[in-house]
This record gives sequence, C-alpha cells and structure tokens, in this order.
Amino acid sequence: MKRANATSPAPSWPDIDFAAFNAGYREFPELKLATDISRVGFPKGYFATARIRRLLARAFDHMARLEAGEKVNRDELDDQGRPGRMVGHYWLRAPELAPKDKPEIAEAIRATLTSVKRFARSVHGGRLTGQRGRFKNVMVIGIGGSALGPQFVARALGKVKTDKLRPWFFDNTDPDGMDHVLDQIGRDAASLGVTLCVVISKSGTTPETKNGLEEAKAVYAAAGLDFGRHAVAITQVGSQLDREADQNGWLGRFPMWDWVGGRTSETSAVGLLPAALQGIDIDALLAGAAACDRLTRRPDAATNPAAILALVWYFCGRGHGARDMVVIPYKDRLELFSRYLQQLIMESLGKELDATNRRVVNQGLSVYGNKGSTDQHAYVQQLREGLNNFFALFIEALRDREGPSLVVAPKLGATSGDFLSGFLLGTRRALKEKNRASMTLTVDEVSPFTVGVLIALFERAVGLYASFVGINAYHQPGVEAGKKAATKVLEIQQAVLHFFATQAGAKRGRKATAKEIAKAIGYPDAAETVFKICQRLSVNRGRGVRRVGGTTPADIEFAPEGTGRT
Ligand code: PA5
Repeated sequence: MKRANATSPAPSWPDIDFAAFNAGYREFPELKLATDISRVGFPKGYFATARIRRLLARAFDHMARLEAGEKVNRDELDDQGRPGRMVGHYWLRAPELAPKDKPEIAEAIRATLTSVKRFARSVHGGRLTGQRGRFKNVMVIGIGGSALGPQFVARALGKVKTDKLRPWFFDNTDPDGMDHVLDQIGRDAASLGVTLCVVISKSGTTPETKNGLEEAKAVYAAAGLDFGRHAVAITQVGSQLDREADQNGWLGRFPMWDWVGGRTSETSAVGLLPAALQGIDIDALLAGAAACDRLTRRPDAATNPAAILALVWYFCGRGHGARDMVVIPYKDRLELFSRYLQQLIMESLGKELDATNRRVVNQGLSVYGNKGSTDQHAYVQQLREGLNNFFALFIEALRDREGPSLVVAPKLGATSGDFLSGFLLGTRRALKEKNRASMTLTVDEVSPFTVGVLIALFERAVGLYASFVGINAYHQPGVEAGKKAATKVLEIQQAVLHFFATQAGAKRGRKATAKEIAKAIGYPDAAETVFKICQRLSVNRGRGVRRVGGTTPADIEFAPEGTGRT
C-alpha cells in the first residue's frame, strides 16, 4: 500500500468547529438519543432571550393544561356533541396521567391494550384463524392517520424472516393500487382465507377506506369466503364502521376515542394492533414513547429534545415556516418516517386561523425527504448549491445491522455501513460549507423503543411549536374541505352518467361538448369539472362515455359509449 512520505503534507480534514459541535451536541441516554444543533446557526444565548423564554413558558403551560385534560381542541365537538375536545394521545402510554375525574379513560386505555395483546396472541397461537387456517397476512385498510403510522412502524420494525404476519396496506381509493396488493397476496380462497383485514377509520365514514372495504369484501365473496370471519374494525364506538362490524359478526372491534387525533394515534389500537399482529414488541414501543414523554415534559429547553426541535423549526422558519424541513434518515428502515412526519407536522401546523379563530399569517412547516444516501443522488445537489429555502434534519442510527458486516472496500477496511455513515457526515459537512442549516438526531439503533421515542418526540415538538405560533394543532379543517369538494364532484359525475344513460344521450347518440353537458345537467358553471369527468370516464370501458373529435376542452365532444359517430 502506498504511504505518505516524509515530504507529503500531513492528511488534513479539519473539523468545521469542534467547540461549536461540543456545545451543540447533547446525549439523552434514557432515550438512546442524541441531538446536535451545532449546524443550525442559533445566535449565542438564543434559548435564554426573554422572547424565547416567554414562548417556552407559554408552550410548557399549554402542554401541561392539555395533558391535564383541558379541551384545547376548541373547534371540534366531543363524542357527546359538545364543543371542544381533549387531546389525550400522551395518556395512551401513561394511562395513570389521564384526568382523574374521568376514570373511564384510563380504564379504556388499559382494557384496549389488554385486548389488543390478547387478540394478537389468539391469532399467533392459532386459536383465531381464517377459513383456510392460521392467519399469515394482515391487511390494513385505512388512510391518513389511520395508515401512515402503521405503515411507518411496519417498515421500520418488520423482519421478513420472523414477522408473525406479513403486513399489507390498502391506503387509497386507487383501484390499480388495490389490485397490485391483491395480486401479491393472491385472490384465491387459500390466500385470502389466511389474510386478516384490519379496517381502521376513526370516523368510520372516510370514503377511501369505505371503498377499500367494499373492494376487499367483494374479493372475499368471489373467493367463496365470509369476510366477517377475516376482519376487525378500529373505530369510534357507534360509527358506521362499528355498526357494520357488529352486525356482520367481525372477529373484533377496537375503540378510537374523540380525544385521540388520527395523526397522533400510533400508540392507540390504530398502531398497536397491526404492529402486535406483525409480531412487533409493542410494550417496548410504548415504553420508548413514555420515556420520551417523561423527559420532554421538562420545562427547560436546553435539556428537552422536543423543545430543542421545536425551537429549531421556529428559528430556521422564522416563526412562519419560511424554510422547508428536509428529513433525511440514513437508514432504509426509516424511509417512511418523512411521510409519516409530513402528515403529523403539515396537517397539524398548516393553518390559516389562530387558536382563537382569528386569521394569522398562513402557518405551516413543509416537510419532505426520503432517505440517505439515496437522496444524495436526487435533490441534495439543490440543497447544497441551489435555493437556500430549507433546513435539513439528519437522522443517524448507529447500529448498522444485527450481525457482522462484510468489508466491501478492503483497501479502506470499510463496510457498507461505513460508507452510509461517511455519506451522512460528508453531506452534513458539505451543507455547512455552503451555510445551509442542519440538525442531526442520533439513535443507537432502529428498535421498537427508539421508534416509540421518535414518535413521541415529534408529537410533542408539534404541540410546543403550535403554541409558539398560537394555532390549534389538533383539527384539520382543510382536510374536511377536500372531502366536501370530492363529494360535490361525485354528485356532478352522477348527473353526467345520467345524462349519457338517458334518452338525451344514449338513444340519439348525441355528442356534446363539456360546456353543453354542464348546461344540460344543471351545472352551467362547472364545464371544467364536467370535462375532467368525461375525459376520465371515456378511457374506462363500461362507464358509458366515449370521446369524439376535438382538440381543446372547449371543442372536444363526448358521446354515449356504444353509439356510432354522429
Ligand atoms: O389525522 C387525521 O385526522 C386525518 O388524516 C385522518 O386520519 C384521516 O382523514 C382518516 O380519517 P378516519 O380515521 O376518520 O378514516
């Protein structure tokens, strides 16, 4: 091997600023976590300024009131239809902290955990089986907060060789997406008869989930199976889904409560049941979340990682999300974390009204990212040299893999994991050289405990940050708006289908432009919507619509399917 001779300069790669790193790095051994804010660019003494101290005091007070059961989600109704909801996801891992004057809450949390475990044991032990034997697959049907957490945890903690059940997801109303899942599971009785469907919807009425359920029921029926013998529901007591499960003798029903939001439901039955069925250690996950909650209740920013994180968001985004957060975990198992965080953070913080319903500067914090080093071959070029409109959040997991690693580059004595780490350290440095801010979170390994820590850490950071900027993090009026708009589109589509199916269309085979159809069906201002509806229907056989000539939305014509050109 060639060595540097006496005349070559000594190899040099000086640290950017070791003293700053030393000051910005903090370990939290009880969480197997460390934070490093040395590359954020905080001015000296930032945490101690009067303004930040005031913000923190208010946020800690708010969190204390929230955890004590105050109805801080003022804009939604509770399960009795009264205004205001409690926000209780922290009780899920410490039921003893639930409001003492409502002992039924702690009882319900404990009883649900017991029944989740009992149910999973019965499945694993073969006491509860499908019509074709022991369950081998678990298929979650849900969306948003009723899917993203379970998906993240399944990917982070699953082990193909030892998983007790293999996880699958229907997380959208895309027919082709569902076909793709079913093609992998198999549509025959032998495959579906060992597949347990966990249908999750807090409201019990979400259309995407309802459609997934209907599609699942249809394939089970086609295979000659009784769907109810392969299904459980997780939903609010008395919801439409709950009633369906009850009336059709499903294998189980697990509760969701009005005081747990979808995006903070990972430590309720929503996350715990799929994880337990997969064989994941849910006690360790809950222990991680509980340990993080205990530590992040500390009303001291410097020693509270959730407060540190929230202050990084506040500082980097100048209190109004001026910079995006790019989440880059250098670990394949965490690749769905940024998607999970995207919902947790953006649905919670993306608000136009403040907590008292006054208009604020539109708030939010944009989140994207995938995983390192993959992302270095995608958008890191722009992060380093292009628009400086972001800060990076690196996530490092120290343990490479369970067993020993192969040396893949013998000259360097380096393993694949060494390269992964090298790329992380290199990218952090490369960003710093160009004055791009970043924070690093380090976990010992990706384990049920540390995944629980990460979930609780970001949940609390969201709560604290929401208080800094004065918004309600626990409602989602924008999501409701999208749902209402979709319903309207489907109403218009119904009218379009009717138009083509009735005399005016079918018999005469008359062709018409979107504008003409819109007028004829009584939606004269909705020509664009009508055009988009007809355009899609016309490429899906059997939907009764055919596209006839034309090149622009104004002159393209549609006619009933099956009629000749007119
Ligand atoms: O976080 C939320 O509240 C939403 O993303 C919901 O989880 C999502 O809309 C699904 O709702 P539901 O669980 O009622 O089907």
